[in-house]
Amino acid sequence: MIQVEGLTKRYGERTAINKLTFHADKGEIVGFLGPNGAGKTTTMRILTGYMPPSEGKASVAGFDLLTQSLEVRKRVGYLPENVPLYPEMSVVQYLDFMAELRQVPNRNERVDEVMEVVHIADRAESFVSNLSKGLRQRVGLAQALLHKPEVLILDEPMEGLDPQQQIEVKRLLREVGAAQTVMLSTHILAHAQELCDRVIIINGGQIVAEDTPDRLSAQIAGGRRLQLEVDGDGDGLLAELRALPGLSSVRVVADGRFEIETAPGPDVRPLIASTVVGGGWKLLELRRERLSLEEIFIQLTREEAEAAAAAETGAPLAEGQAPGSDSAAG
Ligand SMILES: Nc1ncnc2c1ncn2[C@@H]1O[C@H](COP(=O)(O)OP(=O)(O)OP(=O)(O)O)[C@@H](O)[C@H]1O
Ligand SMILES: [Mg+2]
Repeated sequence: MIQVEGLTKRYGERTAINKLTFHADKGEIVGFLGPNGAGKTTTMRILTGYMPPSEGKASVAGFDLLTQSLEVRKRVGYLPENVPLYPEMSVVQYLDFMAELRQVPNRNERVDEVMEVVHIADRAESFVSNLSKGLRQRVGLAQALLHKPEVLILDEPMEGLDPQQQIEVKRLLREVGAAQTVMLSTHILAHAQELCDRVIIINGGQIVAEDTPDRLSAQIAGGRRLQLEVDGDGDGLLAELRALPGLSSVRVVADGRFEIETAPGPDVRPLIASTVVGGGWKLLELRRERLSLEEIFIQLTREEAEAAAAAETGAPLAEGQAPGSDSAAG
């Protein structure tokens, strides 16, 4: 379990993260998404006890980060952004060394186990310096799993892995995530969409959205676009659809296929369906289009960037928006 409240980190004048509040429960995989410089690594370093926050509090695996950071570190597995491996050691030496540091019981067996889990056993005797980037990433992951941590914090775990390994790691994380708490950062939105129970989108050090991948896409899309398909060429249907209330535009995509933009308000699908069927057309499909997480992400981070640009150029603020209400607090 991870519980974070008002977490803030300043590097000199720069506020890297600003009053983050979120949680990750046991059995949950939470994805941390955001563009470069959003504050993902900063947050993860704080949560793993490698760096204190400037403000705010957090508990990890039930222990307070500020007052019980040793207890936290015992219960957290951390895959840092740049895995600090010891190049002069072999894979098995390195893992054994880390296991000893963490006082892992039945060290040899456990090291063998994690090497199997991440498929690196056949390279056990290779020097870490001779491993490819993806193989090194696997060793980093093995290291994070060694002490069977309750909480896994993984900074871009898929980075550098080939597609086959990405599938393996996803499978592994689902297994681990069923009983433990996993927080991972990624730029690859498809991974978050597939893997995460919940997604936190962070931009400029602040949370801009948080929900399940499905609800995020429904929420942002607002269910605004519908795809309709009827059997045959749909002759005459366009005029009927355009006469309906609650639709802002109707476009013919192909014979019998229409793209409908709906106005905000009640769901118009029942009305559309009864119009189609009532008019004697055969309804093949009526589907609400969902935005991918990628589209949402771009939309959200663009809105923020535009707002920031507007503030800088002194453009008038939208009604109800308090000037500088956020920036003054950092
Ligand atoms: N040690 C540091 N000293 C000063 N500024 C820092 C330091 N570490 C990070 N920052 C700044 O804090 C902000 C957040 O950085 P962070 O590394 O947390 O982003 P990130 O979301 O992990 O980005 P990326 O996707 O590129 O890994 C950035 O503006 C970065 O330049
Ligand atoms: Mg980072």
